[in-house]
Amino acid sequence: MRILVTGCAGYIGGTFTFEALKRGFKVIGIDSFINGKKNNIKFFLENYRESFKFIEEDLSDYKAEKLKKELDSIKIDVAVHCAGLKSVDESEKEPLLYWKNNVDSTINLLNILSNSNVRKVIFSSSATVYGDSDIHPILEDFGIEPVSTYGSTKVAIEQMLKDSSRSKKFDVVSLRYFNPVGSHKEMKVYESPYSMPNNLMPRIIRVALKLDQKLQIYGTDYDTRDGTGERDYIHIDDLVEGHFKAVEYIKDFKGYEVFNLGTGTSITVKEIISCFEEVNGIKISHEYADRRPGDIAKCYADPSKANNLLGWSAQKNLEDMCRDAWKAIKNNLNDAK
Ligand code: UD1
Repeated sequence: MRILVTGCAGYIGGTFTFEALKRGFKVIGIDSFINGKKNNIKFFLENYRESFKFIEEDLSDYKAEKLKKELDSIKIDVAVHCAGLKSVDESEKEPLLYWKNNVDSTINLLNILSNSNVRKVIFSSSATVYGDSDIHPILEDFGIEPVSTYGSTKVAIEQMLKDSSRSKKFDVVSLRYFNPVGSHKEMKVYESPYSMPNNLMPRIIRVALKLDQKLQIYGTDYDTRDGTGERDYIHIDDLVEGHFKAVEYIKDFKGYEVFNLGTGTSITVKEIISCFEEVNGIKISHEYADRRPGDIAKCYADPSKANNLLGWSAQKNLEDMCRDAWKAIKNNLNDAK
């Protein structure tokens, strides 16, 4: 089976690509390196010469000549579309950049796939589409109310995919990720903490590495267990496993389907810091700060649809996530920068 992976140099696309290669799939990977790591591609090319092919291209460029040429000569069974910018803050400052990079590139990709008769698409969506839900845990059929440009682009792409599936050109599974953290079990592909991340785990890692003196906890007066934000953190290995279940599912599936990929458990900022400290024996200095604009109090999944239809459920716990996130950085101190 041959899989096209967009964003294959990034944290999630890269981890999926590595695991797909390990499982014997053939992978055509595409990345523009706007955020992805060249080292990931070097590693795949060196270790999977026969089964990995890389195309460096920006999918928002309508020419996309390299991809078109590649698809002229080979048959793709499934496209796993992970490419996309994902910073809420940046999306508020540069909305058109997000519409171009996330939405334009998907229109382009779908046109190219359609011309090459690729009809199976798995899309990396996000729990961000639910916005600030009053009810938890969150089910797939809850209201869609994105509160950022980043969220709007995910909603737009989902809608585009749903419309395209109605035209019978594509069968699509959208996976709504909750908060992916941790590192793949072999510690080769991981989330980089070096390029000023916004997310909590890489920020904790920066303090552990002494790159930052203190972690700022954004908001201590939320209506949550301890006043700090509650999220559904999910180990990257579990998230990636969800993609393989989706690859299986989509083989015989026709239409459009959406699944939450989360654990169903909520964890506060204070709880994740304590867990990280305990599991890794490192003190994470922190201070209390104002709420981050655009943040919500709570967000966690009801994953029962994925449990029932995909036969998938998250297996790893918060200790695994904290341990593996740090271990990957410790193991790769030399080439991470
Ligand atoms: C963020 C995005 C979300 C996106 C996801 C991608 C925002 C508002 N939301 O989700 O749309 O899909 O990343 O991974 O950016 N926190 C701190 N200190 C920090 C960093 C975070 O206290 O230095 C807190 C936040 O307030 C939040 C929790 O940690 O309560 C998780 O934050 P983060 O990892 O950024 O994820 P989300 O905000 O859930």
